[in-house]
Amino acid sequence: MKLNEHYFELTESYLFSDIARRVKAFAAAHPDQKIIRMGIGDVTRPLPPAVTAALEGAAREMGQRETFRGYGPEQGYPFLREAVAAYYQSHSTVVSPEEIFIGDGAKSDLGNILDLFSPACTVLIPDPVYPVYVDTNVMAGRRIVYLNASGQNGFLPLPDPRVKADILYICSPNNPTGAAYDRQGLQAFVDYARENGALILYDAAYEAFITDPALPRSIYEIEGARQCAIEFCSLSKTAGFTGLRCGYTVVPQELVFEGHSLRAMWLRRQTTKFNGVSYPVQRAAAVALSEEGRRASEENISYYRENARLLMQALDKRGIFYTGGRHSPYLFMRCENGMGSWQYFDWLLENAGIVGTPGAGFGKNGENYFRLSAFGGREETKEAAERLLNL
Ligand code: MLT
Repeated sequence: MKLNEHYFELTESYLFSDIARRVKAFAAAHPDQKIIRMGIGDVTRPLPPAVTAALEGAAREMGQRETFRGYGPEQGYPFLREAVAAYYQSHSTVVSPEEIFIGDGAKSDLGNILDLFSPACTVLIPDPVYPVYVDTNVMAGRRIVYLNASGQNGFLPLPDPRVKADILYICSPNNPTGAAYDRQGLQAFVDYARENGALILYDAAYEAFITDPALPRSIYEIEGARQCAIEFCSLSKTAGFTGLRCGYTVVPQELVFEGHSLRAMWLRRQTTKFNGVSYPVQRAAAVALSEEGRRASEENISYYRENARLLMQALDKRGIFYTGGRHSPYLFMRCENGMGSWQYFDWLLENAGIVGTPGAGFGKNGENYFRLSAFGGREETKEAAERLLNL
């Protein structure tokens, strides 16, 4: 038996597991310190009553012989795929239910999609970035080239025609920087992909935070994207499903590489390795995407936006440079006094009792930056803003 040696090229633990361990140790050593957690981007608002009612109703259906359901369709129940298509339609994007695959969240599908591609592919990944894109490719031994994001380019780098890649990752609004591409920016990626026969893996997990109609919520708002992009999205941040687990991946019919349909390949992969998301969760997701559900989720998103505004106000008052916060639940701030990002993590925890995520955990260009999440409760966020002001 031989192990996959590429695992030994990974950092010892996943970023958020590492942070959780450090915070646990700090809390044990300082039992009287009130810690404000703004590290992992996990939602805190409860699910709307219509969504929990759907969960309860579906659970009751499962308890009765007439309405009990066993295995569901691997691609997801048609009622949910239609609800996702209607959600896209609500922001003027047409995708067909046949192209939508229901999964347990964007993270899993972003990792699993790589089954379709040769380990010989070169991938282009922005730095800093959500660590899942890098780690899943390291595990497969793929060559990674980085696209440098920085304060100078507003953390919105564009592809360089001299750098050749087969697979490109884009996350917009971005995790961790909160920066969001406009149409021109995304068009540059689509044009690059089409000229190079490359594929875009587009992570739209934070699209619901966009308020400016000039910023696209889906890559399919861009001309030519259906020929070169797969989109991943999730109800985690849109509708508070981090605990329930439900997401969707769109694989357009037009995606044909080397004569093969990626939609057909993904269906083959899913039918072999996945038995779908549980029926009650899919019922809850359909309600979350209905008009009533969307209204309720929008209230929660507004709540997080207000949290972000409070944090932005504190950083503005202190004159600290940051990106994000406007179309994103994340603020990516420059560490004070030139500190390194892990050094700032320790310093902020000790001096303000605030947990954030060190920028270096998202890549080398994240060094000297620090991510704050606006997904907390209002009182805690106010207190954190106050502590940041008084540091
Ligand atoms: C984050 O904090 O970056 C996210 O919550 C992680 C995730 O969505 O998996």
